[in-house]
Amino acid sequence: MIPVMTPIYTALTHYIAENTLRLHMPGHVGIAEAWPLTWGKLASFDVTEIPGMDDLHLPTDVIEQARQLLAQAFGAQESFFLVNGVTSGIQALFLALPANAKVLIPRHAHRSFFAGMVLSGTNPVYLPAEINEETGLSLATSVEAVESALQSNEAVAAVFLTSPTYYGTVSDIKGIATAAHRRGIPVYVDEAHGSHCGFHPDYPMPALQAGADAVVHGLHKTLPVLNQGGALHLGDSFGPVDQITRAYSLLTTTSPSYPLLASMDLARHFMQQEGFDHLEKACQLADEYSERINQLPGLQCWGTKLSAPGVVAIDPLKILVMTEALPMTGLEVGRRLRQEYHIQLEIEAEHHILAMMSMFHQRSDWERFYRALQSITKEPGDGKANRRIKPVVPPAPVVIKSPREAFYSHNKRVALTEAGNRVSAEMVAVYPPGIPSLLPGEMITEEIWDYLNYIRQTGFQVQGPLDNRLETIAVLDL
Ligand SMILES: Cc1ncc(COP(=O)(O)O)c(C=O)c1O
Repeated sequence: MIPVMTPIYTALTHYIAENTLRLHMPGHVGIAEAWPLTWGKLASFDVTEIPGMDDLHLPTDVIEQARQLLAQAFGAQESFFLVNGVTSGIQALFLALPANAKVLIPRHAHRSFFAGMVLSGTNPVYLPAEINEETGLSLATSVEAVESALQSNEAVAAVFLTSPTYYGTVSDIKGIATAAHRRGIPVYVDEAHGSHCGFHPDYPMPALQAGADAVVHGLHKTLPVLNQGGALHLGDSFGPVDQITRAYSLLTTTSPSYPLLASMDLARHFMQQEGFDHLEKACQLADEYSERINQLPGLQCWGTKLSAPGVVAIDPLKILVMTEALPMTGLEVGRRLRQEYHIQLEIEAEHHILAMMSMFHQRSDWERFYRALQSITKEPGDGKANRRIKPVVPPAPVVIKSPREAFYSHNKRVALTEAGNRVSAEMVAVYPPGIPSLLPGEMITEEIWDYLNYIRQTGFQVQGPLDNRLETIAVLDL
């Protein structure tokens, strides 16, 4: 067999060229009649596990070849295509751990960690969120925090971190892996926002290279991949793969999208061929424009020069701009960018905005963003000055029931005034930075109760509870 560079995509193009009458799923049978014209090609790529297209659950043919190419490209022992986003890779890693395992997790982890713990029955040991004074955001997990948690907690089965964060900040995975491996504990990294990093040396070092045992990538977040496309990569040190393969199959749909698989196949090939040049250009533009944005009155944009404890590298393409010195909030900046300049940010918050730039943005796109910010900063604003979000660290959680036990317990809604010393059935996270102050199964201690009242009175935006004014809260009915 002649090796092909993009096996899934190539098999699909051959199938389309045969002009077969499709009497198989999906229901559109490759004809885009109900869709806009531009969708026509995509529909013809959307097939099912017919002969020649392999089986994602038991790959032996084109998917297996593509999986091997994926693993080679990312320096993994083995890689799995994820068709339900990073979420399913994170859940699979939890499920593959021993039953009721103890796992060290930073409090700023994505909500998919919580789902992984509900599914697997894992008992979390939380690393408190370390809030960076300058930004009010949780940007890293320090080696010291991991060391000290490992010293005071026995029988930890894994350390599972997030790096880069949503803001592009990278923790010292090498140091953390050394500390954990010394005790025989594996390190897993949610590297959802870092799939592109390994294709250019000026970007942060990929976690797998830094010593992580397993890594989950959100390929759709930074590479040209359709939504939901991700990868689970296992390092050489991961050990036997049977249990993780079973967990992956348990969580993965039996109807994977072939356009999605093909987009991952194509993106991997593209990155190997052209990734370096694209990332090089993007990095230069990012450096130049971070500097220029930083010169605008009222804005602070450190780019990769931000120095924060625990942060060893920064993705240059995450443009975090602090807006505190402006006579308007970051929310207002975001609203104006969208409404007046047709520019949609990744996120806007009270004291910052975050633009997620890609290697496909041209100089003209960066210039347009810069000019819009330049005009906005010249305007008088809405009079609502930024409130400095106090970097109040939520009190350390007291876990009474595991996320799984809490999920299956009866609950009832009570007034917040009566919630003290009860066990919460809801998550409460001040947003931003979105770090849970409380998760299901955790005690509403006096300290946490005071903290909840504080966030209710200050009117910070809260994620999690059905009653987001926090007048009531669901508690376990024990
Ligand atoms: C850090 C992090 N981890 C995991 C996820 C989940 O990714 P997905 O939506 O691909 O399941 C996200 C999503 O935004 C994320 O930001």
